[in-house]
Amino acid sequence: MNDPLDEPRIRRALEIGLRSGNIAPSQIGCEIVVLDEIGSTNDAIAERALAGASDGLVLVAEKQSAGRGRKGAAWIAPPSHNLTFSVLLRPTFPMELWPRLSHVAGLAVVNGVEPWLSGIDLQLKWPNDVYADAKKLAGILVETRSSSTGAFVVLGIGLNVNSQPADFPPELAHTLTSVAGLTGTPSASRNEICGSILAELSRFYEQGTQAFDTLIAELEQRSFLLHQKIRFRTTEGWNHATMVGIGANGEMLVQKHPDEPVTAILNAEDVRIA
Ligand code: BTN
Repeated sequence: MNDPLDEPRIRRALEIGLRSGNIAPSQIGCEIVVLDEIGSTNDAIAERALAGASDGLVLVAEKQSAGRGRKGAAWIAPPSHNLTFSVLLRPTFPMELWPRLSHVAGLAVVNGVEPWLSGIDLQLKWPNDVYADAKKLAGILVETRSSSTGAFVVLGIGLNVNSQPADFPPELAHTLTSVAGLTGTPSASRNEICGSILAELSRFYEQGTQAFDTLIAELEQRSFLLHQKIRFRTTEGWNHATMVGIGANGEMLVQKHPDEPVTAILNAEDVRIA
């Protein structure tokens, strides 16, 4: 039986996560709103942001009827099984550094859910898919919007918690996984996992803002693609290269041949192992 999403339980887990991780409280989670059903939590939070909502607002939904993934794909999750939530950020640091936020979110998800997955290696597929056992466990949609009152960022997180293999679309079942699928536990607490991720988001948002370079070693150590031959698409078309690192601003560092210079890629789609 899945525990219903519940604001006080999420907040308690956030506070426990902050205390046990010795993390300074932040604006993140200043307001947490649980919705029974919404189109997309990313769209709903953007609407509230345009209406003046505060930095750190969290919307978490039992059901999304129009959940969105990257590149216009749909994000499909059975109601009340998984986590679908969004966080509003109003960064005060320069906009050219905002691409760092997708890495900040990736590290927060990995570290936040890891206590439920002991012994299982969690990896980040650049820029921000979370993989376990070579299958996708979570996806993150980072959207920047501008408005007359200033630009803002919406971090949307979809994490498969209690979905079973039969719940996934058949054509994708071999590429997706969940906390329950990885551990065999029938029902992990979505409230506790959500609070834990929000606590880690406070940690990594602060660290990513103040000293992004200190995150690079963990980003590389968690990377699903590091040292792999990959192919990816940029505005110039398809490219083949080896991923050799993460750059100072979160770029993917690639090299076509060992004797060629390293190139930093910030905007790449369809990044795959070749
Ligand atoms: C991806 O892997 O393509 C990103 C998926 C992001 C899905 C989440 S679920 C919560 C939030 N609301 C949305 O409509 N999308 C994101």
